[in-house]
Amino acid sequence: MTRKPTGIELFAGCGGLSTGFLDAGLYVAAGFELDRRAVDAYDYNHAYRGSRGFVADLNFALGAELLREAGIDEVDFVVGGPPCQPFSIVGKRQGVADDRAALIGHFVRIVEELEPKAFLLENVPNFATIADGAILENAMVEFRRLGYAVDHQIMSAADFGVPQNRKRLIVLGMKLPKGGRLAFPEGPYGRPNRPYRSAAEAISDLPDAGEFGETGIYNHEPTAHSPDMVERLSRLEPGKRERGSFHDRLHPDRPSYTLRAGSGNFSPLRPVHYKHHRVVTVRESARLQGFSDDFIWPDRIPRLQQYRQVGNAVPPPMAKAFAECLAQQMDWTLDVAGCAGNPSTRPPANVLSDDERRALRTSRMRGASLGKAALAAE
Ligand SMILES: C[S@@+](CC[C@H](N)C(=O)[O-])C[C@H]1O[C@@H](n2cnc3c(N)ncnc32)[C@H](O)[C@@H]1O
Repeated sequence: MTRKPTGIELFAGCGGLSTGFLDAGLYVAAGFELDRRAVDAYDYNHAYRGSRGFVADLNFALGAELLREAGIDEVDFVVGGPPCQPFSIVGKRQGVADDRAALIGHFVRIVEELEPKAFLLENVPNFATIADGAILENAMVEFRRLGYAVDHQIMSAADFGVPQNRKRLIVLGMKLPKGGRLAFPEGPYGRPNRPYRSAAEAISDLPDAGEFGETGIYNHEPTAHSPDMVERLSRLEPGKRERGSFHDRLHPDRPSYTLRAGSGNFSPLRPVHYKHHRVVTVRESARLQGFSDDFIWPDRIPRLQQYRQVGNAVPPPMAKAFAECLAQQMDWTLDVAGCAGNPSTRPPANVLSDDERRALRTSRMRGASLGKAALAAE
């Protein structure tokens, strides 16, 4: 029997890339990630599909150690999105001066150690211009030295049916079969006969989150805004920005603004619902990022982390298109049923009583986008 194509995800976060690859039918054995709360979400949402999450500092972990933990002898593909904060135009432009830029080098090192047949590296578009493009160019030179055919492109998640304007730089590398040609997938959306998916298409069927989020829908809890903020948001038109707080309001008929991971403050990083006078819930964010409702963040993972993990993720439908494209070029067979798993075999995500959850939600809401006046009064 031939071995099924097997991969691992580096810098996995909650595993948006792994989700898309598994959805396509390519087996991802494990995700490696520094933050244990992201590993928790990874494991909760992938272990039932045969893929385990592991805490690892990829500054130090050796490729051989990763294989041992994953319980495999070799990998066919490696995927990953080393942290993009140093390159994001949203954060401080620290670029090469930031240590995290070195993580790109560790992605290259692990590819060199494991010699996969293919790899995919994801980052923000600005990665291509930082330090006059030197970081990207150095990585490309290294990959070519290792014998890979490589190319990079800036791709839009909206082209793949994700209801969000999200552009990402993707580097693809392959040791192509004879006569093979490296190609990027083409998204079928954004054409006259197939318009982009809109925010309303993605979230309009969800009920309002109510005061405490007691809707029975996982991760659908509201953020508590101050009365002043609610009043300001109620005057904010769809598709517009609130000038004082920088909140952007979704337009129901357009894809969402780019969801971000953020670092400190919670709310302006989340768009405001087009109809309700609050920022979107984690569930709405996950929908706007293309996650299915089977992807659940257990209660024990703090809500700010849940938002961050969503904002960090590669939208699964985009990852799926890349997996299918990769499989086609590498002549790999897809096994959708074999990578599906049964989500109902997971332990319960929420183990708190309604009263406990309500108390926790109320306390977590404190400080979450309360607005300047309320924060000053705290
Ligand atoms: C952009 S996110 C990746 C998201 C992922 N590609 C997805 O689709 O969900 C980058 C991740 O790298 C992790 N990270 C940062 N430094 C790390 C390190 N030294 N070792 C392992 N992971 C690290 C961060 O915690 C973060 O979750």
